[in-house]
Amino acid sequence: MRFKLGCRFLLEVPVPSLTKALFATLLISLSTACSAEEPNVGGPYTFTQPNRDGIGKVYMGREISHVMGHLGTGWLERPERERQERTDLLINNLPLADNFVVADIGAGTGYFSMPVARKVPEGKVLAVDIQPEMLAIIEQRSEQLGIENVEAVMGSVTNPNLPANGVDLAFIVDAYHEFSHPLEMGQNIVQALKPGGQLVLIEYRSEDPRVPIKRLHKMSEAQAKEEMMAIGLEWVTTEDFLPQQHFMVFRKPL
Ligand SMILES: C[S@@+](CC[C@H](N)C(=O)[O-])C[C@H]1O[C@@H](n2cnc3c(N)ncnc32)[C@H](O)[C@@H]1O
Repeated sequence: MRFKLGCRFLLEVPVPSLTKALFATLLISLSTACSAEEPNVGGPYTFTQPNRDGIGKVYMGREISHVMGHLGTGWLERPERERQERTDLLINNLPLADNFVVADIGAGTGYFSMPVARKVPEGKVLAVDIQPEMLAIIEQRSEQLGIENVEAVMGSVTNPNLPANGVDLAFIVDAYHEFSHPLEMGQNIVQALKPGGQLVLIEYRSEDPRVPIKRLHKMSEAQAKEEMMAIGLEWVTTEDFLPQQHFMVFRKPL
């Protein structure tokens, strides 16, 4: 017996020994973790029949995907991730300085927050997420690793709760497409950036059919640029040195 596990990935897991009851429980907990349905808020959003991986809410022509629940932490932390996604290259290419205040928005388990914190020894990383389970993992890991310059920040679906004009660099890895309120999130991120501060947006390349990720969890460069321009950011560059993702840099005007 095989079934699809998680909300986003083309991963198939054999489960020969699961009883029907256990299987049903697992499906219920997964769908709870994946549920991000919102009331009809109107404004910049329209609503449609949800696709399997979407919440039925459309922003600038793009259906927003489900949030990856904390049950997916194993996937974020899988040992082969560095090789598959070259996360080492991603980190090494972030435009950092020793004293930067960096925001990791949609930080998940803090996969990126920890190594980035080591690269800003006189600064800090504000690791934002909306799932308390993720923030608990971040706090536990930073303590275990003895990293003192990571702060776990509880965001809301509309606001990352960052200090105004307080962030030198924000980065979002594989999370922006899940934001249920991308316009409000974007506006608040812009407020948090210092003038000239940058946002690095990492999304799986939707232009590339070989990237084995579901459609709503990918984004094209053109779509990302349009959405970032809508919140007043300037496009700086798009680099495609990563095997699966766009590395897109935007800047808050001076
Ligand atoms: C697929 S995970 C990626 C985690 C991490 N960036 C990584 O690459 O390992 C996406 C994360 O974004 C978070 N998220 C979704 N919507 C959010 C929002 N509006 N504000 C902050 N985090 C959000 C989810 O809770 C989840 O932990």
